[in-house]
Amino acid sequence: MKSIIITGGAGFIGSHVTRTFVNKYPEYQIINLDALTYAGNLGNLRDIEERSNYKFVKADITDANKIVEIFKEHQPDGVIHLAAESHVDRSITNPVAFVMTNVIGTVNLLNAAKEIWEDHYYEKRFLHVSTDEVYGSLGEIGLFTETSRYDPHSPYSASKASSDHFVRAYHDTFGLPVVLTNCSNNYGPNHFPEKLIPLCIHNILHNKPLPIYGDGKFTRDWLFVIDHARAIDLVYHKGKNGESYNVGGFNEWQNINLVKELCKQMDEKLGRPERTSEQLITFVKDRPGHDIRYAIDATKINRELGYSPSVTFEQGLSETIDWYLSNQEWLNDITSGDYQQYYKMQYTV
Ligand code: NAD
Ligand code: TYD
Repeated sequence: MKSIIITGGAGFIGSHVTRTFVNKYPEYQIINLDALTYAGNLGNLRDIEERSNYKFVKADITDANKIVEIFKEHQPDGVIHLAAESHVDRSITNPVAFVMTNVIGTVNLLNAAKEIWEDHYYEKRFLHVSTDEVYGSLGEIGLFTETSRYDPHSPYSASKASSDHFVRAYHDTFGLPVVLTNCSNNYGPNHFPEKLIPLCIHNILHNKPLPIYGDGKFTRDWLFVIDHARAIDLVYHKGKNGESYNVGGFNEWQNINLVKELCKQMDEKLGRPERTSEQLITFVKDRPGHDIRYAIDATKINRELGYSPSVTFEQGLSETIDWYLSNQEWLNDITSGDYQQYYKMQYTV
């Protein structure tokens, strides 16, 4: 039986990737390696936790010895690396945590893979999950391709860029069989409510202000999380060693228009009069170093691996809202405790 270690499997994207692999590949043993930080939640995986091809191991990727121990015990054939500090605003208040997990943690995993695979790389694979934010910010036109220059601006994107460089360096120097994905903004069920879409869904439900940074004209390309998990599956199995694949939805929205669309759909679903939730929109102080526009050219993954997203944004957003409406307990659990403190610090000026 082949085994794959998925790091960060209790987080937003990691839980969807873990579920996809556990369900689709009963012949693989899937090991979810996660430290369960504020963003990790085993409740995201309740439906598969009893499956015989799934196992959870609690560990912090900054602990090099522990990681080697786990790799020796489980002898993984593959690694899908998602564990990270992932929120730009938190990286502005605590950059060191991002260096520790995203850079040092990634190097620890690369070292552990190199050590247990001992240059026997046949049918082995290390997939590093990265972001389009490493490419920096676009003007009004243009798209990020795999050869766009790295130009990160936030401590988050700088730490992810650094980790990407280490992953490529281990390929070029030691021959480690790596592949990388650089994906645009994800949305969907189980998204932690510090990020724009779930934060607004939560605040609309509770009639709280919807904080829009700056003038709201910042643009992001949004992809449904299940379509990201499908891309990771494809790149893990079919991607070429040493290559990067951009993943995106060709689906750009200015933040203000996105939040208005969300308000419209929420009003319909909650039976509120038209434009009720829009009244909650509040412009707040901008994020320092805020990237103006991200947009992905995803033609390489389409051309070489036949990938395209499976749902339209309207369908994906509707499904996402429905999930939050039927899982308010999940949302309430997450937004109690530490989250309240974070929210006060981030949004009370
Ligand atoms: P998330 O914050 O929801 O989850 C991160 C997970 O990693 C959590 O389960 C957390 O407990 C775990 N983790 C954090 N530090 C750890 C450590 N030191 N050791 C072990 N586990 C640790 O993140 P996400 O949004 O699911 O993002 C997953 C990956 O995808 C990240 O690498 C991120 O950079 C990348 N990515 C995210 C997006 C997005 O829109 N969210 C887009 C492109 C790429
Ligand atoms: P976010 O979900 O944090 O993702 P990222 O910064 O990784 O793109 O933010 C998406 C966009 O929404 C980004 O331009 C910042 C903006 N934003 C707000 O306007 N208000 C908010 O409260 C948050 C969290 C984000």
